[in-house]
Amino acid sequence: MPVPNYEPWDETRAAEVIAEAAKQDGACMPILHAVQRTFGYVPEEALPMIAQTLNLSRADVYGVFSFYHDFRHERAGRHVMKLCRAEACQAMGADALHKHARDKLQIGWGETTADGKVTLEPVYCLGLCACAPSGMIDGKVYGGLDNAKLGKLIDRARAA
Ligand code: FES
Repeated sequence: MPVPNYEPWDETRAAEVIAEAAKQDGACMPILHAVQRTFGYVPEEALPMIAQTLNLSRADVYGVFSFYHDFRHERAGRHVMKLCRAEACQAMGADALHKHARDKLQIGWGETTADGKVTLEPVYCLGLCACAPSGMIDGKVYGGLDNAKLGKLIDRARAA
């Protein structure tokens, strides 16, 4: 999956993105996804724009936005690393692996490294349980992760 090149926040651009996505059925989710794909997160300013477009209250839109962990409050880093915290991965030592990742990146869950290169997010099963512990970087999945493998992936992402 190509590394996203997020656009800076721009209200006019957001209005275009929202109007285009609003043509789809059940538009709230598609709009939120479209806004996040464009800007790397869902800016606070976009929520009332979405509410107005869909004739919903701000609270309705905020409720959807905050319910789904995939929607971000802050711009993602250049690379998004998701590590699986579900049961099969936990059973295969994911906790220690995740601590290694957080220590190496010097960030916590949902945070982005100071150089803006990597955002670390939890995910709950990638369908790769047989190869646990698993993770995903920029949409590409990796199984059988250990500290060494994950460390190389992190180094590669930070160097790119
Ligand atoms: S539990 Fe981690 S991939 Fe399924």
